[in-house]
Amino acid sequence: MVHYEPARLFGLPTPIIQAPMAGTATPKLAAAVSKAGGLGSLGIATSTPEQARAMIAETRAFTDRPFNVNVFCHETAARDAAVEAAWLQHLAPLFSECGATPPETLNDIYKSFLVDDEAFRMLLEMQPAIVSFHFGLPPVDRIRALKEAGIRTMATATNLREAKLIEEAGIDAIVAQGIEAGGHRGMFDLDAVDERLSTGVLVQLLARQTNLPIIAAGGIMDGKGIRAMLELGAAAAQLGTAFILCPESAANDNYRESLRSERASSTRLTRVISGRPARGMVNRLIEYGEQEGSPTPPPYPVTYDATKHLISAAVKRGNHEFSAQWAGQGAPLAREMPAADLVAMLIKELQD
Ligand SMILES: Cc1cc2nc3c(=O)[nH]c(=O)nc-3n(C[C@H](O)[C@H](O)[C@H](O)COP(=O)(O)O)c2cc1C
Repeated sequence: MVHYEPARLFGLPTPIIQAPMAGTATPKLAAAVSKAGGLGSLGIATSTPEQARAMIAETRAFTDRPFNVNVFCHETAARDAAVEAAWLQHLAPLFSECGATPPETLNDIYKSFLVDDEAFRMLLEMQPAIVSFHFGLPPVDRIRALKEAGIRTMATATNLREAKLIEEAGIDAIVAQGIEAGGHRGMFDLDAVDERLSTGVLVQLLARQTNLPIIAAGGIMDGKGIRAMLELGAAAAQLGTAFILCPESAANDNYRESLRSERASSTRLTRVISGRPARGMVNRLIEYGEQEGSPTPPPYPVTYDATKHLISAAVKRGNHEFSAQWAGQGAPLAREMPAADLVAMLIKELQD
């Protein structure tokens, strides 16, 4: 049996983290998880600083337990009108199926935390217990300022090189995200070769070769999975897909239906939905966009803007075939129950 000491990660009573999931995790979900003894998280990458401030305040209204707030640190998209036009032209037949035409132009819809001074000031002011970074790291002076405000920090690594950068930057813990994980892959450099390490291998590697607490993320769906990761050297486990079916998540009915169906057993890591590799349940947009001869999608989040236009045209006709339904390889193992019950079950399974 694995014995968990709260000191292993920020004094948390259990080693269970509900992953930040921009657009899917809600204040109700994060608060329910934190209240039940886990660590809830909010993903604010697709929210404005004002929306994020309201989400943090709402979570606080539900609980005084600590929770995590997550931001994206991607390089601002290098715009290329020809690439964007080619992508829109490629999507034109899908728009036409929905009785629509592609937009004339695309936009950089989500500001990176790297250039979002307002989001930085908002976090300093709101002081969530923990802030985590995905896709890279903010400048060291910003990390220092957050820490001086009493905020603990975490950042995602998909390989040892990124983990070393995280350690050098003075971050407090590393989220080791394996290839199984649902949602966006946190890789820093999209041009670097991706070794696509599994969560188990990555956790062992980082536990041996860094001095920071390691949080395992990717494919963990129950207490046994958490226990296995603790045995491999993790200080805690971060679960995303396992929480999507909770009634407190923002997942819509169609997303839930897909997760309960056969579709859950087919996920793919793809750039065609957002412009960055992300794992979701296979749909027509993924299949179409990855066909041989397809042009390269524009960088994140410009491709996402095209997808959002397509989704809104499709959904008006009751068609969900183009929707982004992020999920990890463990999706068929997801269980449907309120978040507090799920955390209680995970704790029980972890101890059995
Ligand atoms: C719907 C969804 C949205 C996600 N959004 C974010 C996010 O906003 N920030 C982030 O750091 N990770 C995000 N992730 C990735 C998770 O942090 C985590 O790495 C992943 O869920 C772990 O794999 P699992 O889904 O198999 O549990 C998301 C994952 C999912 C499933």
